[in-house]
Amino acid sequence: MENKNQMEHLIECALEVRKQAYAPYSKFQVGCSVLCEDGRIFTGCNIENVSYPAGLCAERVAIFKAVSEGAKKLKSIVVAGGKEGQVRDFCYPCGMCRQVMREFCDPKTLTVVVAKSTREYKVYTLDQLLPESFGPETF
Ligand code: THU
Repeated sequence: MENKNQMEHLIECALEVRKQAYAPYSKFQVGCSVLCEDGRIFTGCNIENVSYPAGLCAERVAIFKAVSEGAKKLKSIVVAGGKEGQVRDFCYPCGMCRQVMREFCDPKTLTVVVAKSTREYKVYTLDQLLPESFGPETF
């Protein structure tokens, strides 16, 4: 992330899109914002389904929106989530979402941020959250 303002803006985007979460089963709402190499920002929320496995995490919704609009290089990703309208704890991306991030970034430089608010957040690289990973360079 280039600067603090950009970080705060991305966190605000994640907190805002979280309000769109469709999570009637878990009641756990998650918002995600993605900053791409081309400067564009995409957002996503979790979308559940009565047939549980058909639902999708906020991270994959945001990443798939980016990729489907031609932004295939991710620079930073922010995740914020919690139960029933609250964000009390840091919400870490699930293993499947980490692997999807891996497809569209350099894991040494992708910044993954888990946020409770614009003032309280933690910053990682994808490599820290998904070490020794299997990536698209293999093919
Ligand atoms: N969820 C996300 O969207 N992202 C995460 O990082 C963790 C979990 C969603 C999936 C499901 O809709 C709900 O949160 C409870 O697991």
